[in-house]
Amino acid sequence: MSLQTTNPVKFAYWVPNVSGGLVISDIEQRTSWDIDYNRKLAQIAEANGFDYALSQIRFTAGYGAENQHESVAFSHALLAATTKLKVIAALLPGPWNPTLAAKQIATISHLTNGRVAINVVSGWFRGEFAAIGEHWLEHDERYRRSEEFIRALRGIWTEDNFTFHGDFYRFNNYTMKPKPVDPQPEIFQGGSSRAARDMAARVSDWYFTNGNTPEEIKKQVDDIRSKAAANGHSVKVGVNAFAIARETEDEARAVLDEIIAKANPEAVQGFADQVKNAGKASPEGEGNWAKSSLEDLVQYNDGFRSNLIGTPVQIAKRIIALKEAGADLILLGFLHFQEEVQFFGKHVIPLVRELEEEKLSTAVAAE
Ligand SMILES: Cc1cc2nc3c(=O)[nH]c(=O)nc-3n(C[C@H](O)[C@H](O)[C@H](O)COP(=O)(O)O)c2cc1C
Repeated sequence: MSLQTTNPVKFAYWVPNVSGGLVISDIEQRTSWDIDYNRKLAQIAEANGFDYALSQIRFTAGYGAENQHESVAFSHALLAATTKLKVIAALLPGPWNPTLAAKQIATISHLTNGRVAINVVSGWFRGEFAAIGEHWLEHDERYRRSEEFIRALRGIWTEDNFTFHGDFYRFNNYTMKPKPVDPQPEIFQGGSSRAARDMAARVSDWYFTNGNTPEEIKKQVDDIRSKAAANGHSVKVGVNAFAIARETEDEARAVLDEIIAKANPEAVQGFADQVKNAGKASPEGEGNWAKSSLEDLVQYNDGFRSNLIGTPVQIAKRIIALKEAGADLILLGFLHFQEEVQFFGKHVIPLVRELEEEKLSTAVAAE
């Protein structure tokens, strides 16, 4: 057996298509939400070992992120500026229906040689739904709709004469052409409540979850993978993290302290008020943000909890621990995106690859 790394962990970064960066803090962030900054960032990322970029969808934001570019158009601009990077566009069922989404993404798939993927998000921001006149569905109903959305997309993308009669969407003998190029666009989803995990175990290719410790990630992974196996399905897992890689651990910790010290309390509280509609509002009271402290919420998706804060060696080891807990992909946010994506690609990813090789050689030697 060769010492080729099997299943190297994948790396993605959050596209800063929303203003204000990835932390709700007045600390200096050398990150911009404009397209020129983002095109260059995507090029830096693909040249430095990143596999994916994830764009966000927001229609409004009362908690600090005043400007938000739309995810599909923005993702296409990034795809047009790159050659290898895959870009995952967030879609919110409701504003998007599957008819338009299927066609939009199929066209982008042709324009970009199949490098587009989607992230189906289910909604948590009640103020946003109210602002755009979108009917508010209770927590688990949102997932029922998302699941129909995904089933409809897959049907339209793979079948001719597609017929589907759901509670939210209906298709009759519909043949969409052209279908996306092969391989089919990957379908990610975000959320970690019971309903989110059950949906992942039935229909999604990827499950994205908020930042957490390897122990807590493992619990989610075990739950999803056992259910998926029972459904004859398989699902990969992506974990969020806010990375602060510096030459010394003290330097990295000082940056975290400064982010928290300069957090904007009103904006963090505004965000905290809205995220109560996520996991906490599910029948089980579990899921994203259900246990987040105010400090955790300074980073939108609990990214400090994954603890990728320290030297490149410390971070690389913690990534391996997350991988061993079942993570297939690490989704990263940074303070100064262009500079730090480059630093991470040059100094952390190669260490992760070395550790992966070492693990593999140890495993082979033990055979
Ligand atoms: C990695 C990731 C990305 C997400 N991106 C978006 C987004 O762009 N827009 C949005 O409205 N919600 C987004 N969400 C929110 C989820 O779709 C979901 O509504 C939220 O996490 C609550 O899920 P839960 O109650 O199942 O835990 C994202 C979640 C994760 C984990």
